[in-house]
Amino acid sequence: MSTESHTIDTLLEESRTYPPSDEFTSQANVKDATIYAHAAKDPIAFWEEQARHLSWSQPWSQALDESEAPFFKWFLGGKLNACYNCLDRHVEAGLGSRTAVICEYEPGDHRTYTYDDALAEVCRIANALKALGVQKGDRVCVYMPMTAELCFTMLACARIGAAHSVVFGGFSPDSIAERVNDAGAKVIVTADGGWRRGKVVELKRMVDEALALGCPTIERVLVLERLGNSAKYNGGTWVEGRDVSWTQLVNAQSEDCPCEPMDSEDLLFILYTSGSTGKPKGIMHTTGGYLTGVNATSRWVFDLKPTDIYWCTADCGWVTGHSYIVYGPMSNAATLLVYEGSPDFPDKDRFWRIIEKHRATILYTAPTAIRTFMKWGTHYPEQCDLSSLRLLGSVGEPINPEAWVWYHKFIGGRNCPIVDTWWQTETGNIMISPLPGLTTAKPGSATRPMPGISAAIMSEEGETLAEVSGHVEKPESSIGGILAVNKPWPGMLRGIWGDPERYINTYWSRFKGKYFPGDGVKLDEDGFLFLLGRVDDIMLVAGHNISTMEVESALVDHPAVAEAAVIGKTHEIKGQGICAFVTIKSEFEVTDTLIGDLKHHVGTKIGPIARPDDIILTAELPKTRSGKIMRRLLRDIAEGRELGDTTTLGDPSVVAALRDKYENTEG
Ligand code: WT7
Repeated sequence: MSTESHTIDTLLEESRTYPPSDEFTSQANVKDATIYAHAAKDPIAFWEEQARHLSWSQPWSQALDESEAPFFKWFLGGKLNACYNCLDRHVEAGLGSRTAVICEYEPGDHRTYTYDDALAEVCRIANALKALGVQKGDRVCVYMPMTAELCFTMLACARIGAAHSVVFGGFSPDSIAERVNDAGAKVIVTADGGWRRGKVVELKRMVDEALALGCPTIERVLVLERLGNSAKYNGGTWVEGRDVSWTQLVNAQSEDCPCEPMDSEDLLFILYTSGSTGKPKGIMHTTGGYLTGVNATSRWVFDLKPTDIYWCTADCGWVTGHSYIVYGPMSNAATLLVYEGSPDFPDKDRFWRIIEKHRATILYTAPTAIRTFMKWGTHYPEQCDLSSLRLLGSVGEPINPEAWVWYHKFIGGRNCPIVDTWWQTETGNIMISPLPGLTTAKPGSATRPMPGISAAIMSEEGETLAEVSGHVEKPESSIGGILAVNKPWPGMLRGIWGDPERYINTYWSRFKGKYFPGDGVKLDEDGFLFLLGRVDDIMLVAGHNISTMEVESALVDHPAVAEAAVIGKTHEIKGQGICAFVTIKSEFEVTDTLIGDLKHHVGTKIGPIARPDDIILTAELPKTRSGKIMRRLLRDIAEGRELGDTTTLGDPSVVAALRDKYENTEG
């Protein structure tokens, strides 16, 4: 793990602590610390209490079924609908006129939807999907700009019992096709385009290219006219009979669409995340347990109140958008702010202008964004009125203490608790985080597990070094190791779409009977948990999971490349940057543009987020005698560290040559 030693050094020096203010605590949703002990005493009964915050059309008969572990099932026999829980029940409770979504578009206009409006629009979309042949149990691929319609499309799928598979709008046609085909999606919902940094992102054109690669299960493409009525002519080609205009179809639908009663364990969505063997994993989440997890944690961690304007800056292409834009907050009848565009358009103060304009009270963003804001300078936030903020959140990667303190001071005005939330696509909901009215925070630490979650620190060899729960227990000295979760929890993934073996191997084989998330962890002397990044071949680039294998396969796909080894390298802003060591086929002439071409190639194969920062051309890669590439040595070279153990290296001269080359290339 490339960032580990550096992170440990800086994190362990951290001694500043930030207790919640009396003022915050007195109004907090969770202010009674006995919640931890209460949950630990009988976690299953505790999760049942949480599940009762939802509306079920039929109660469950069994809370947890472990008979086919690790294929756990929650709330067996129970029936509910996720969309009903996010919309209808609020309207039925008289909250229809409450604002559900304020959608701020990049060009500067915005639109507000009440819960009544949201319900009507979701019903129209749901009826449109039905008209396109979508039925309960089908999969729908969603490739849209980050606007209210994306959230509503997800809810419309849930309403009729179809699983959505949202593909981030920055992914390439290859990536779309791979995900569509793996999921066997019947319909794609997209848009003529969206706005990003003042430019049009041609989503429909990307979909056309993906379909040209071969997506036999796709029958229809529903196209939102985000950019106006010229959809048919924007970038792509309009295929009559396949492509359908949103304006024509959705707007003509009835606002009446009954909710499909779903079994608790019916599939709610698939979301693809990087796997260390290259092929993305279709993470499956089901209805009752997932909704219970995100509903409860939203209430606890974000302290949601009817008066809040809650802004999570994620895109619904990632799990954060699923859990903490759509399902968690909306099942709590929150008012959401949704922003389509980039933080530096038209200027680098855009986020702060948005907070000022809509009087946002809660901001949930990522460390990579915070580090970018630090670099841009304090004058941007200082020019804006951020006094409406009362709570800040962070997610996606470890937040370095300096960024934490900067966030606290310049964005929170020293007066907002910060919740550093650790979780994963697979965990469904937040697993480790402060409770803002209870927990004293320490910069860089996600503090401790949520009520109902018990974790352990494991050694490489699989022995339990420490148990960690919500209780503050100070160890005799700090303990470092690998994180594990001891027991199943309702929001956990239910599997990998189409690959049950891989589910068992990836998550349940490393430590017997425990879930293995793949992260390094340290418990400091004061009992604070510090998450230290991945222990496998997954990189965390700007908070996004990208596997080294995925980038390697994209590189090797280029005709000039013989072999590639990719590593994550410490990056000031992005947390990790991508560094590729590449050997070129002997028959290929190395031109000045080759490195640029290779970067571009990866960008088009996977998407711009996977574009390598550095590409080092090398005659050979360091390998063991059995031919395995020694990525560990490449990481040492890239980080400018002493080389670790080189005794298994086949040809030691390769590394020396590579190091010289690297240092010269960089300078
Ligand atoms: C990986 C999961 C959770 C939604 C976004 C990412 C890293 C996430 C933190 C945090 C330290 C964090 C972990 C994890 N991570 N949050 N607060 N502190 N690390 O979801 O793409 O599934 O990535 O992100 O390494 O395993 P994801």
